[in-house]
Amino acid sequence: MAGNRTFTMIKPDAVKAGHSGAILNKINEGGFRIVALKKTKLSAEKAGEFYAVHKERPFYGELVEFMSSGPIIAAILEKDNAIEDFRTLIGATNPAEAAPGTIRALYATSIGENAVHGADSDENALIEGNFHFAGTDMF
Ligand code: RTP
Ligand code: MG
Repeated sequence: MAGNRTFTMIKPDAVKAGHSGAILNKINEGGFRIVALKKTKLSAEKAGEFYAVHKERPFYGELVEFMSSGPIIAAILEKDNAIEDFRTLIGATNPAEAAPGTIRALYATSIGENAVHGADSDENALIEGNFHFAGTDMF
């Protein structure tokens, strides 16, 4: 991944609410190309590992419980300036502060259950993509 890829998950709240198709459409309309895509479910252990960077934060336990509460959709996406453009497309962490029309403004319900994840750096996009996908499943 050379700076033009990001990693995303449609989180359990949005999958459960039936928003997966609409969110994938927003991603498509946003000009992102799908490199890898799957529906899966994280165990609490795997969710804890994925969000290990937040281990010391007060919401870590809640976050791990939420992220392992149901199926997610994981994807690697490609576009020029992917990290920044995808964070713009999803909006602020707290949906109450997310710009109108962003995925979180449209589909998130709270700061904890906020519909989508977006990688925050090229380095983390690579780590997170490799966490979920084998190289042979990236196209
Ligand atoms: P993400 O990593 O999921 O794309 O979200 P983010 O960068 O916008 O926010 P981050 O600070 O990395 O937080 C990761 C996820 O933890 C949950 N969270 N809950 N209850 C709270 O105050 C709180 N703060 C964060 C959210 O699910 C957030 O997306
Ligand atoms: Mg983050």
